[in-house]
Amino acid sequence: MFARAALRNSVRAPASARYFSQTAAANRKVAVLGASGGIGQPLSLLMKLNPKVTELRLYDIRLAPGVAADLSHINTPAVTSGYAKDDLEGAVDGAEIVLIPAGMPRKPGMTRDDLFNSNASIVRDLAKTVAKVAPKAYIGIISNPVNSTVPIVAEVFKKAGVYDPKRLFGVTTLDTTRAATFLSGITGTDPQTTNVPVIGGHSGVTIVPLISQAPQGDKVQAGEQLDKLVHRIQFGGDEVVKAKDGAGSATLSMAYAAAVFTEGLLKGLDGEAVTQCTFVESPLFKDQVDFFASPVEFGPEGVKNIPALPKLTAEEQKLLDACLPDLAKNIKKGVAWVAENP
Ligand code: NAD
Ligand code: LMR
Repeated sequence: MFARAALRNSVRAPASARYFSQTAAANRKVAVLGASGGIGQPLSLLMKLNPKVTELRLYDIRLAPGVAADLSHINTPAVTSGYAKDDLEGAVDGAEIVLIPAGMPRKPGMTRDDLFNSNASIVRDLAKTVAKVAPKAYIGIISNPVNSTVPIVAEVFKKAGVYDPKRLFGVTTLDTTRAATFLSGITGTDPQTTNVPVIGGHSGVTIVPLISQAPQGDKVQAGEQLDKLVHRIQFGGDEVVKAKDGAGSATLSMAYAAAVFTEGLLKGLDGEAVTQCTFVESPLFKDQVDFFASPVEFGPEGVKNIPALPKLTAEEQKLLDACLPDLAKNIKKGVAWVAENP
């Protein structure tokens, strides 16, 4: 059999890039699981371009060594390796950050919850291996339905006795990305400095944008204009699914969003003050939901602090009231499923 070590050596980064890796502040190993997919490939490219990343491990059930060979010719620090279908453990072993975009995307007419049956077992099985060989990794879950896949990973880690809620994140950055883009489209402000917190979960009405918290938010007229903006942020994913016409869902914007998330996490690990919205185990509405997306402060431990929410407007409170029961159902579904399908 073609030795795994040889396979990995064949896609090592060139010597010039290795020189730069020696100057990196810390040894940052990132693994992408589902690396050959619509999100996985551009996300892996963005990770290869991130100078903080010293080692990049790509895993998929198909094509990962090829994607890694391609990326490994880019002269940036990250030493890039591709792992074959039967070498998930090799890919994850020693990884500090594990990003998971593995699984089926939506087709028109589907909800994210319709992906549950195909993606729950994919995420569970990947999580089992991460719990075994990289129990201390910071894990970013991209695979949908995020409202259920994150609780699934938490249950797998609990069962393995290695769960640390500070290290598990549902990546909801695409919601804040869209909110900034759509709001700045109305207000004419710079989209890169427009910042709208988006709380709740990552699906339809569980997505709750807090337009009142953006400095530009008061430029949106209450009533039809605000309602349309909120609806567009909540259902922005459907726009892409419809436009791709059966060929999948958001991939490039998602890869960008996951790269923003990972950069925030890396900065937090380096002790920089960073706050981003992400779906984590949260005390904010503990009596109704164990997981909730809100602005989270990152630190060396992962989740450093989950600040209390700001005062919501009456409209935002209505949105939150609609979010919580749906979110609770999605979370319970994930937990119940792992209990029945350990
Ligand atoms: P895709 O079909 O293009 O890619 C998925 C990849 O996962 C494929 O390469 C496939 O081979 C791989 N895969 C399948 N089973 C695997 C396994 N057991 N181990 C490793 N890899 C496996 O899909 P995509 O467009 O990249 O979307 C991936 C997921 O991300 C979907 O579930 C989608 O709904 C979700 N998504 C989430 C967000 C978000 O905001 N969190 C945004 C967009 C998409
Ligand atoms: C998104 O928000 O674009 C993703 O969750 C993919 C989808 O199914 O809409």
